[in-house]
Amino acid sequence: MRRLRENSWLFIKHMPDYKTVSKELLEQFRELLGEKNVLSDEESLERYGQDETEDLVYKPVVVLKPGTPEEVSAILKTCHENHIPVTPRGAGTGLSGGALPVFGGVSLSMERFNRVLEIDERNLQATVEPGVINEVFQDAVKEKKLFYPPDPASKGSCFLGGNLAHSSGGPKAVKYGTTRDYVLNIQVVLPTGEIIWTGANVLKYSTGYNLTQLMIGSEGTLGVITKIVFRLIPYPQHNLVMLVPFFSAEKACEAVSAVFRAGIVPSGLEFMERDAIDWVRKFETDIHIDVKDEIQAHLLVEVDGNDPDVLYKDCERISELMSQFGCDEILFAESADQKTMLWKMRRKVAEAVKSNSIYKEEDTVVPRAELPQLLAGVKAIGKKYGFKSVCYGHAGDGNLHVNIIKGDLPDAVWNNELPKGITEIFELCVKLGGTISGEHGIGLVQQPYMHIALPEKHLELQREIKKIFDPHLILNPGKIFTRA
Ligand code: LAC
Ligand code: ZN
Repeated sequence: MRRLRENSWLFIKHMPDYKTVSKELLEQFRELLGEKNVLSDEESLERYGQDETEDLVYKPVVVLKPGTPEEVSAILKTCHENHIPVTPRGAGTGLSGGALPVFGGVSLSMERFNRVLEIDERNLQATVEPGVINEVFQDAVKEKKLFYPPDPASKGSCFLGGNLAHSSGGPKAVKYGTTRDYVLNIQVVLPTGEIIWTGANVLKYSTGYNLTQLMIGSEGTLGVITKIVFRLIPYPQHNLVMLVPFFSAEKACEAVSAVFRAGIVPSGLEFMERDAIDWVRKFETDIHIDVKDEIQAHLLVEVDGNDPDVLYKDCERISELMSQFGCDEILFAESADQKTMLWKMRRKVAEAVKSNSIYKEEDTVVPRAELPQLLAGVKAIGKKYGFKSVCYGHAGDGNLHVNIIKGDLPDAVWNNELPKGITEIFELCVKLGGTISGEHGIGLVQQPYMHIALPEKHLELQREIKKIFDPHLILNPGKIFTRA
């Protein structure tokens, strides 16, 4: 059972005096959307008051489920005029609290926008609604031998709209880029109710400011996405997967940049500390991997392409390189099932950690070659403040997920010391040339640390952009910035 924690937004300053959703407005919403698309029972409010972020719950006053851009527009217009906060929501799989309605008001669920509208095989493009599940879309285009690479760990449940909100990455990003590299054009409903398209369905776009890219990663604070046009690529026909055990976690991180320096770009290069694998094996009993006691970390490596001979050669070269960094015997996946099992092991780490203890997940990212220093620094900071961490993530991108474990740490240490430790971790990221989130976003939980990553002038520009789009600050208030 999750604890209700409703005080952490007190650091959000200078917000407008929002109004609540009156009975008359509720009636208006029922008329607009139909009874069944307006939820205000306790159970629904609790469900839509959470996402996958820690143990946080912030209940909305009402959950609205529109089905057309025009309905979204009518809702936003009403909320803009009446100063009611609106928090857009995808599948609720976010890890930074982006979908939490911290100021109550409306939770705007996009779950009815669940259609793949068109797969344009002539142009290698597809038009979808934002409530389509990532993997459903991947499978739909794969049937046409097309590839949509961005694949967050939650691909089986997360929505594409949420992926745009954070420019989600995932393992394939190392070779193929993140969500933002596949979006050509977006239909957006602005907080004031107007409906716009941000770009054009073309591969090149040099026509004024790039509102498409501005919208991506804006975490539902600038507009509500109602249609997305993606570019697609041909599906690579073959892949090979290997699991490489290391005697030292830092050496595993050092091996990562050596692979790229050797001229190979893998389609996945993931790092898992010892605890990550141990906890997954406990959590998912159908994962069978023997790990020797001395092993401290693993790299999961995938290469893909159309020529199997090239891939075998790449794997041989990678094996040679890895052995220079002190790896043990490498496991090559021999069947599709074994590949699936290895990837499942990697994708389940976050859930396994969550099931084990209260935790905080940081989404650190540094230039790839600085990864060993980041890992060493995180461990040293943990020692200083007395916390344990389980680290894993997209090593090929320099993107390390740092899960800080509460375990039996006293509440006083967790509440008072941890923010100091996190501050030091983020300062280290910036010192190494990185930043505080690579793919999970800022949302609610990282905003107190934004000043570490961005100077005040930069933050001011971002806040001013927000005000142009949303003069009454109704859309996803309390996210990204600590003040209006
Ligand atoms: C992962 C998610 C947590 O990489 O980003 O597993
Ligand atoms: Zn990740």
